[in-house]
Amino acid sequence: MNKIETYKTLVSQVKALVEGETDAVAVMANVAAAIHETMGFWWTGFYRVAGNELLLGPFQGPVACMHIGYGKGVCGTAWQCAETIVVPDVELFPGHIACSSLSRSEIVVPVFSKEEQGKVVAVLDIDSKELNNFDDTDKQYLEAICQLVTL
Ligand code: SME
Repeated sequence: MNKIETYKTLVSQVKALVEGETDAVAVMANVAAAIHETMGFWWTGFYRVAGNELLLGPFQGPVACMHIGYGKGVCGTAWQCAETIVVPDVELFPGHIACSSLSRSEIVVPVFSKEEQGKVVAVLDIDSKELNNFDDTDKQYLEAICQLVTL
């Protein structure tokens, strides 16, 4: 399967996983696992907005930093801008927070509140060991997946 076909299968899987589920932790846990296993990324997980910081949520991969400030790192910047950030080379992103020295590229996708339009409630963070691993296809399908995540 090429990447688009793989993502289409993944989106169907995520739809089935989240249908009728209301517990945020359970949903984030299975969505992170589905993405991670299907796509073979290095680190896949959620950070939740908790007051004035992002707090580590369900994830797959090596241990990661637990607290990220508003506007800090790629995750805090995606929260601040309320838009997806694709980082082809983490060493070239000013303020990048290196949780794993093996991470080379990264994508962070905001998860929006269902009640309040435009309000970011979490971010989906994915790291790859390959440089330049994420493109518009990843952005498109990962944003679609984040729209299925109701927190
Ligand atoms: N690199 C992220 C920190 C989280 S880890 O990648 C899991 C950042 O700069 O926000």
